[in-house]
Formats: sequence, C-alpha cells, structure tokens
Amino acid sequence: MHREVRLARRPEGLPEARHLTVAAAPIPVAGPGEVLARNLYFRVDASIRMAIGAGAEASPDAPFPPIAEGAPLAGEALGEVVAAGPGADLAPGDLVLHRAGWREYACVPAAACLKVADDLADRAAHLSHGWTAYAALTRGAAVPQGGTVFVSSAAGAIGSMAGRIARLLGAGRVIGATSSPAKARRLVDELGYDVGLAREAGPLIAQLAVAAPDGIDLWLDLVGGDQFSAAVDSVRPGGRILVLGALSGQLAASGTGRTAPAMIDSFPLLLKRLSIRGYSADDDPEARAEWTRRFGEWLERGEIGFPHVVVEGIEQAPAALEAASRGRHFGVVLVRP
Ligand SMILES: NC(=O)c1ccc[n+]([C@@H]2O[C@H](COP(=O)([O-])OP(=O)(O)OC[C@H]3O[C@@H](n4cnc5c(N)ncnc54)[C@H](OP(=O)(O)O)[C@@H]3O)[C@@H](O)[C@H]2O)c1
Repeated sequence: MHREVRLARRPEGLPEARHLTVAAAPIPVAGPGEVLARNLYFRVDASIRMAIGAGAEASPDAPFPPIAEGAPLAGEALGEVVAAGPGADLAPGDLVLHRAGWREYACVPAAACLKVADDLADRAAHLSHGWTAYAALTRGAAVPQGGTVFVSSAAGAIGSMAGRIARLLGAGRVIGATSSPAKARRLVDELGYDVGLAREAGPLIAQLAVAAPDGIDLWLDLVGGDQFSAAVDSVRPGGRILVLGALSGQLAASGTGRTAPAMIDSFPLLLKRLSIRGYSADDDPEARAEWTRRFGEWLERGEIGFPHVVVEGIEQAPAALEAASRGRHFGVVLVRP
C-alpha cells in the first residue's frame, strides 16, 4: 500500500487543508508502456486551486484539467523508476519528471515522463520553476540588454528564479513585487533583485514611479488583475508586457480562481507602442534541455540558487497547499513524501 492526497470536497474559496485527505491505496502495477515511480518530491503549485475549486468542471479545456472529488491531486513530481512495464523505454533507477505528484508511488506512461540526469547536487532542483522563467525570458520575450525588468509575484515559484535569470541574460536592473515588506527585503537580500516592492506598502504605480522613474522595459506578469493596469502605466515607450500567469484571480479569496479582471486605460498602448503577449512555456518544450544545461552551469558557478521549502511527509501536504495559497512560503514549495 502507499498514500496519496485526494480532493475531499471542492473549496468555494481558497483551499484549506480540510478540503484534502491523505488516503491509503494499493501500489499500482506498471502495465505495457508504463513505469512505476517512487516519488522523491512533488511540487505544491498554488494554482492547482483552478483544478480543484468550485466550478472547475465547467472549464474542462483549461490548462488545469478539473480534478474530481475523491480523485488524487496531480502536479509535477520527481520520481525514481522502480519498475518498468513491457515496452517502456525507461529502466529502474532512472530519474524522471512527470505529472502524477501528490502520491508516494505513481504509475505513468513512459512517454509522459521526462528522463533527467542525476547530476544536480540537490535532486530537488529538478523541480525548480526556473525553467518557466527561462523559457519566458528566451522564447517569450528577449531580455532588454542593460534594461529594466519587473517581475510580479517575485517571491513565488517562478518569480523567485526569474530575477537572477533575467540578470544572467543581460538585464541591467531587476525589480520584484511581493506581498509584505519583510518578503520584499528578502527579494533583495536572497534573490538578487535590485529593488523589492511590497503590495501592502501602497499602490505599485506610485512605488514604481520612484523605483524606475524611466519606466520598465519588460514586465513579466504573473499576477494580472490590478497589476496589469499598473503595467500599462509603468512600462516605457516601446516596452513589452509578457503575461505568464493570473495569480490575482487564481488566489483571490472568493470566486472561481479562473478570471483576473483588470481595468486598463488602452490609450497608452497606442501612445507608447506597447506590446502585450501571453506566453506558455509548454509551447517551447525544446527549451527545456537548454535550461537544464545552463541551470547546472549557473548552479555550479554559484550564480543562481534554488529558493525552496521542503515539507516533510505526505501527511503534511494538505497544510502545505493551504499555506502556499496564502503566500506563507518563499520560493517553490516541495513535499518529500
Ligand atoms: N505561462 C507559463 O508557462 C506558466 C507555467 C506555470 C505556471 N504559470 C502561472 O504562473 C503564475 C505563477 O506561478 P507560480 O508557480 O510562481 O506561483 P506560486 O508560487 O504557486 O504562487 C504563490 C504565490 O503567489 C503570491 N500571491 C498570492 N496572492 C497574490 C495576489 N493577489 N497577487 C500577487 N501575488 C499573489 C504569494 O506570494 P506573495 O507573498 O508574494 O503575494 C504566493 O506565495 C501562476 O498564475 C501559474 O498558473 C505559468
């Protein structure tokens, strides 16, 4: 037997630990083309709220397919193959990334696994969300050389990596925003941001007028909503807004988590010749190998870190999701089951 985290009941607002349950289940057997992996770590993405929250069934085509009540949660995990079914081109001992996290053992099609080399000092780093930031900053929009990059939700899984990556790719100045002044200080002290802004300290537009009086060249938008309005105001002529996420909606205390409305003044888009692009790293899977190589080199040279929190024990996973959804962590949140 092994344990898995299941959706006990759909939350109406933000998920709480009581909406999940940790249950025992038989360890599955790998069939043809499948592998059985022992999960070493799985990632707690706060955006899973879209898949488990009320109304999730109404949008089956969304990037986060709905998870039924009683079913195990799903999300990225690092596993070690312990058995391979006939025809699977993986072998016991292989390390793989796959999407069947939130459980101790996972049976997954070998074709849905990404084999990774066991070459990082900390294996957990394979679950870094730096990959998404890297794809965005190389494929979504080129980093303005010597220019100013702004990252919203800079203390989250993607944002905690994006600042250093932007600088390594040529940005002159990186500014990040988070919730509290204490976290904003950590953006500067630990994550290589030049300036950390706190939403609790007042409107972003006013803070950015001081932090970046000449405007932002590239705005990496993980939040949407009101911050999107600030982007239109704060990006300089010819600048770009790259939309990667919508946390303001996904982590709103009420609602479905599936909308992030923003009221914008559209006139500056024309006057400043701004570009807005929505981008998903899923569109550029070939960037992954490049990221893995460069990440390994940067780690070895001490030029980048891997800000993360490890929560020990699968029984702690429900509380980890509750905490992550409320911004109580810093960096990526992993569970070691
Ligand atoms: N485009 C892509 O390829 C791609 C791929 C994966 C994920 N995504 C999306 O990218 C976004 C960020 O993902 P992630 O994994 O980095 O998120 P995450 O770490 O799971 O987000 C949690 C953080 O969001 C922040 N937050 C909570 N409420 C907020 C609000 N109202 N406004 C701003 N920040 C808030 C909190 O930090 P603070 O204390 O700082 O508020 C919290 O720590 C999500 O929308 C996700 O769906 C995009």
